[in-house]
Amino acid sequence: MTTLTSRCDRAPAWSLLQDLYERRGRALDLREAFAQDAGRFQRFSLQAPQVFADLSKNLVDVEINDALTELARQCELEAQRDAMFAGEQVNRTEGRAAMHWLLRYPRGAASALPASLRPVLAEVHTVLDAMLAYAEAVRTDPDITDVVNIGIGGSDLGPLLAVQALDPYVDHRKRYHFVSSVDGHELSAVLRSLRPERTLFLVASKTFTTMETMTNACTARDWFLGKIGYLGEPRNPADVARYMERHFCALTSNAAAAAEFGATRTFPFWDWVGGRYSMWSSIGLMIAIAVGAERFRALLAGAHAMDQHFREAPLEQNLPVRMALLDIWHRNFHGFGSRNIAPYHSGLSRLPAYLQQLAMESNGKRVDMAGETLPYATAPVVWGEPAANGQHAYFQMLHQGSDVIPMEFVAVKHALHELPGHHVKLLANALAQAQAFMQGRQTEDRHRHMPGNRPSSFLLLESLTPESLGALIALYEHRVFAAGALWGINSFDQFGVELGKVLALDIEPRLASGDASGLDGSTAGLLARLRS
Ligand code: F6P
Repeated sequence: MTTLTSRCDRAPAWSLLQDLYERRGRALDLREAFAQDAGRFQRFSLQAPQVFADLSKNLVDVEINDALTELARQCELEAQRDAMFAGEQVNRTEGRAAMHWLLRYPRGAASALPASLRPVLAEVHTVLDAMLAYAEAVRTDPDITDVVNIGIGGSDLGPLLAVQALDPYVDHRKRYHFVSSVDGHELSAVLRSLRPERTLFLVASKTFTTMETMTNACTARDWFLGKIGYLGEPRNPADVARYMERHFCALTSNAAAAAEFGATRTFPFWDWVGGRYSMWSSIGLMIAIAVGAERFRALLAGAHAMDQHFREAPLEQNLPVRMALLDIWHRNFHGFGSRNIAPYHSGLSRLPAYLQQLAMESNGKRVDMAGETLPYATAPVVWGEPAANGQHAYFQMLHQGSDVIPMEFVAVKHALHELPGHHVKLLANALAQAQAFMQGRQTEDRHRHMPGNRPSSFLLLESLTPESLGALIALYEHRVFAAGALWGINSFDQFGVELGKVLALDIEPRLASGDASGLDGSTAGLLARLRS
């Protein structure tokens, strides 16, 4: 087990970095750094599995970079990483392991695992095989024309991102719908377009208690049973079970709740898979139905390759580690409060939303593992949109606004469409923007002046394939974990989301009864207004 002294501010390198920041970091000029070092691009770029990363346009030099590496070493980052890969209970506040990586671990490499994990791996592959066989059966069933994923957070964003990103691989003879919000406009719009006898609903929820998902699932079930004439008493239970078997499938670690709901087909997963790390589990069924079993396995293989890189590459060459160290440098020394994700590929349009949950739910914490208040900032705001559109919206602020916001470009070398001229323009824009953030524009005209020296990272995939998508997402998972480990926080719990859920349970009946007793003035006022 790692120690509680592995917090970054307790490492000797922390004060060295403070000193370096004062002496050089604060004033580091990227334009000068490139002018003085012809090898800077080579020095600060890395090839990881499926992902090339140019980190050279960040506000570091060799000495700062070395001190950051030393920080990782002193914080026992390698030991913390190894603890996760050994299946230790790194999610200490919930007493659980964090083994999303095991979901993509090849069956054939079981002998390299600790003996205690081998039966767990066998179970993982049993469920995976069954789920993929089912996915293939659905794919080849012409009578199922629509598949609806009902889930939220990690039970929605991963499948949604992947189905969009892998569009050229998707079987378009079926339609794929995602319903996440409890806002009934969303579900009713989808239901309007469905024929019940041709629809498969996937109810994706780790806990099978999430209010949004259960509300949507119950409404969808009742809509379905109503349409086929089976809603209400008396029902023929055998017929209902048969219909449920064909038209509803539960993806959950709470089999009892799924059975209670009426699901007769369930693909399980385990409490050691965090919701935001779960797209590799049965939560990925929608992906497997859309792109097929073989490609789902390729997605897992890409992620596994990145797992191996994170496990084995030295700290200096380890991409998740390098990106996590830049996160610390940006957040804790430069004080940058947000990070923009700029995907230059329409297939990655949900990547910012996916990363928002991954990074902010994981590292949006203000106490360390021991519950002590941290004296430094943690997760910045992560935000973004497909950048080709963002350029015509908020990039103005990124170039000339008063805040410096590090950029993260994600581009793809080869397009999977054949429309002439488009992709080269897209790539030119990605390069030009990264260049503009760094170079700025020096002019006497204060309105046209652009300060430049704004840091960015540039991630490049050869092509957006199941393998590269898997590797990209695993890269981000490990980067988030590494930053969390350096900050000394538990990246795997999310207690902060609970209070709002509890209060909503209290308020819901008050909206009907009007009872405002014990409420604050504002909530009581809004309640009255909603009831008037
Ligand atoms: O409310 C936050 C959260 O618990 C996320 O961590 C999770 O991804 C999401 O809700 C959905 O949870 P579940 O899969 O249990 O429905």
